[in-house]
Amino acid sequence: AASDPGLVERARAAKARLGERVFILGHHYQRDEVIEFADVTGDSFKLARDAAARPEAEYIVFCGVHFMAESADILTSDRQQVILPDLAAGCSMADMATAEQVAECWDVLTDAGVAETTVPVSYMNSSADIKAFTGRHGGTICTSSNAKRALEWAFGQGEKVLFLPDQHLGRNTAVREMGFSLDDCVVYNPHKPGGGVTPEQLRAAKMILWRGHCSVHGRFSLDSVNEVRARIPGVTVLVHPECRHEVVSAADLVGSTEYIIKALDAAPAGSSWAIGTELNLVRRLAKAHPDKEIVFLDRTVCFCSTMNRIDLPHLVWALESLADGRVVNRIEVDAETETFAKAALDRMLALP
Ligand code: 13P
Ligand code: SF4
Repeated sequence: AASDPGLVERARAAKARLGERVFILGHHYQRDEVIEFADVTGDSFKLARDAAARPEAEYIVFCGVHFMAESADILTSDRQQVILPDLAAGCSMADMATAEQVAECWDVLTDAGVAETTVPVSYMNSSADIKAFTGRHGGTICTSSNAKRALEWAFGQGEKVLFLPDQHLGRNTAVREMGFSLDDCVVYNPHKPGGGVTPEQLRAAKMILWRGHCSVHGRFSLDSVNEVRARIPGVTVLVHPECRHEVVSAADLVGSTEYIIKALDAAPAGSSWAIGTELNLVRRLAKAHPDKEIVFLDRTVCFCSTMNRIDLPHLVWALESLADGRVVNRIEVDAETETFAKAALDRMLALP
């Protein structure tokens, strides 16, 4: 639906009042009405890198989800304040690994005699606490665009990787891109005693995968791929690596949101594409490329509901509050967590 012209005008006016004091970042899964006001758009890696690009801006308004705003706070100076326009914009995957559960997992690994040789690699989609755990234990953060490089680095440091919280990104990267077999992977279930795995299984594994997943990407299935191939002959199936292994294995191409955008920019006119990622992005791509056939991989899957929480009314409210001198919805990571989480994030930013 078209956005309310009154709200568009108010967002413009508030942004103009703030001028250089505000820097607005927008993840590719955000609504069009929000993306329109972003100074920079990107995947989670690009946004982490660009968060510090405007050191003179007092406020960073993060149009994305909570863990991204936390990362921006960690990576920018204390003088800059990070604002999340709706505090309910979380991520169900990030919520699948709590600090207590991960500490318990590390005890299980210690008891099995494997903690010393295990390097944690945590997906960006995790809380600052989990990033701090990762930093404390000599590990790195990764995103969907650098997971392979992060794993290569980690296997240079130790014999095993504890990958959290997205089992699919961990498995897909290890098996598709690094030559591991499915048998090299074991799944640690935080809801079962001992993670539901034996010490022998932990000792035999190369990849210890946390049992987390994305509730949006987890819904694409092998049937979705088969159905679209039958419906559109010659279609190229392009999916995000948060999809399940069987979906990724059946796809033609796999990559982060930034990769998906670039692949479609480079695609020839007249080509057909089925995209397995969040719907706001797929719709925007279809609109941007009227010369190509771009369809959503599975019409029963819908938006990421938490990404969608950031809408124009919330953005207007945040911008007008800031312009009136009221700081609302600030995301602030405590100093100790920040120190260790930053060590893990800096390791990612230094990956070759
Ligand atoms: P990327 O932007 O890194 O592709 O990640 C997708 C995602 O799920 C963010 O929540
Ligand atoms: Fe989290 Fe999935 Fe939404 Fe990304 S798309 S924010 S991983 S729930």
